[in-house]
Amino acid sequence: MAVCDNVALGAYRLITASEAHGVPEPQPGQFYMLSSAERWGGGADERPYLPRAFSHARAREGRLSFLLEAIGPGTERLAQLLPGEGLNLVGPLGIGWRPPRDGSRPLLVGGGIGTAPLLCLQDDLGPDAPVLLGFRSAEHATASSLFAGRPEVATDDGSAGRQALVTDLLREHLDGDRAATVFACGPPAMLEAVRLACTQSGAPAQLALESGMACGFGACFGCVVPTRAGYVRLCVDGPVVDAEDLESAVFPTGGHA
Ligand SMILES: Cc1cc2nc3c(=O)[nH]c(=O)nc-3n(C[C@H](O)[C@H](O)[C@H](O)COP(=O)(O)OP(=O)(O)OC[C@H]3O[C@@H](n4cnc5c(N)ncnc54)[C@H](O)[C@@H]3O)c2cc1C
Ligand code: FES
Repeated sequence: MAVCDNVALGAYRLITASEAHGVPEPQPGQFYMLSSAERWGGGADERPYLPRAFSHARAREGRLSFLLEAIGPGTERLAQLLPGEGLNLVGPLGIGWRPPRDGSRPLLVGGGIGTAPLLCLQDDLGPDAPVLLGFRSAEHATASSLFAGRPEVATDDGSAGRQALVTDLLREHLDGDRAATVFACGPPAMLEAVRLACTQSGAPAQLALESGMACGFGACFGCVVPTRAGYVRLCVDGPVVDAEDLESAVFPTGGHA
């Protein structure tokens, strides 16, 4: 694919790429393994990095968009991609969000860069589903402008929306509507708080989890996480997992080179 756009969105980058012959239609919540076609790794005589895992934020008219936070060498290189540069991509991979249970109202809950896979879910479900988003600060909360309607925003420092945790907003919604199905993505501690709140209120929840991924298609077992039914490979059995299948949403994470 070739990068057609790479724009700053507050603390994040929104990278859009297209393929002349179109791309297979991904399901919301699936992911891709990405690497840049050029300068992926050290110098000419050093080994390249492994590709990195990213949920697609949007899939429209043969274009894929990724919302990215530059936190290390791979994401920093991707954040520098210029229009016209090549983006290597393997996917769509994994199992994404499933439809809400019969009659239940979807409730979307995102934390930080975990808002990415909720954007394409909202594109699918339509703008009526409530969206609750939590960020560190107003700079990160800029990503909320990508959502249709009026997402409820909370920030840690109160610089945008309410000064609260997104899980505070979630508890208020669950108190008012016990028939919601929750779709959540964010950092592990947030997902664990979502899991506990949903268990308490009896609301089914689907959690998009992360673990260190080396291959992305089931071969390396680098991404295994414990569930009530034993260990699963998050890249093929997830990344979206039912909260009721987990003892906890916090795992020790694997690294990658
Ligand atoms: C299914 C899936 C979907 C993802 N979607 C997105 C997305 O849409 N946008 C986005 O910005 N990021 C996403 N990520 C995270 C992204 O893959 C990592 O940020 C990236 O691999 C970091 O690479 P790096 O070389 O920049 O940093 P590294 O040097 O590899 O990592 C920097 C730090 O982050 C930790 N880390 C790296 N990857 C992970 C991980 N997967 N889980 C927990 N800790 C990790 C490392 O241990 C290290 O401390 C996703 C991850 C998964 C598994
Ligand atoms: S990333 Fe290799 S098995 Fe999941």
